Amino acid sequence: MTQDELKQKVAQAAIEYVVPDTIIGVGTGSTANFFIDELAKIKGQIEGAVASSEATAERLKSHGIPVLDLNSVAEMSVYIDGADEADAGLNLIKGGGGALTREKIVLAVADKFVCIADDSKKVDVLGKFPLPVEVIPMSRSYVAREIVKRFGGEPVLRDGFTTDNGNVILDIHGLEITDPKAMETELNSIVGVVTNGLFANRPADIFLCGTANGVETLTA
Ligand code: A5P
Repeated sequence: MTQDELKQKVAQAAIEYVVPDTIIGVGTGSTANFFIDELAKIKGQIEGAVASSEATAERLKSHGIPVLDLNSVAEMSVYIDGADEADAGLNLIKGGGGALTREKIVLAVADKFVCIADDSKKVDVLGKFPLPVEVIPMSRSYVAREIVKRFGGEPVLRDGFTTDNGNVILDIHGLEITDPKAMETELNSIVGVVTNGLFANRPADIFLCGTANGVETLTA
């Protein structure tokens, strides 16, 4: 099976976690896009969706799925999104597509987090995928120096990329993240950091993992 076929399988499996007559949160990226296409088939069953990026909002709208402003939403049954890496505790690295901040905000409102990905994203230790950190543009050199001082690694500015929030991304290469909760918290304490791509203090509740033998449902 190709990687796209695995992504499509997990996207189909995620439809089971869509709670009828509620608002759901929708992530960003190629796997989330497959999910949006599946969601379109049952769009009459949900109240609407909150998007984690402008790209996701556009795709939802193109399917006629109502897109709601998060500020008008008090309850969200589930947040469904992909990941760049997942460990056995369902701690994640996200943000390869640069949408990490809005993803984390939408997730914060949701009752449950269902992560969908193919099995190439499963790792023993997080960090082979460069960890994205969204920073306020004027702080990028300072934040990069602080990161090297505190954690090592090599922060690289994502060239020519601006987030939906008007900020830049530093991708930290060469990390071995043995305590993702602590690193997530400490990175966020550096002045100028908007957020980082570790989802460890709020890991996934369920990981639908696409394998050659079918979709595995993993919990921490
Ligand atoms: C977007 O910013 C990311 O967090 C994505 O969820 C992540 O990069 C997974 O993307 P793919 O589904 O395209 O691999």
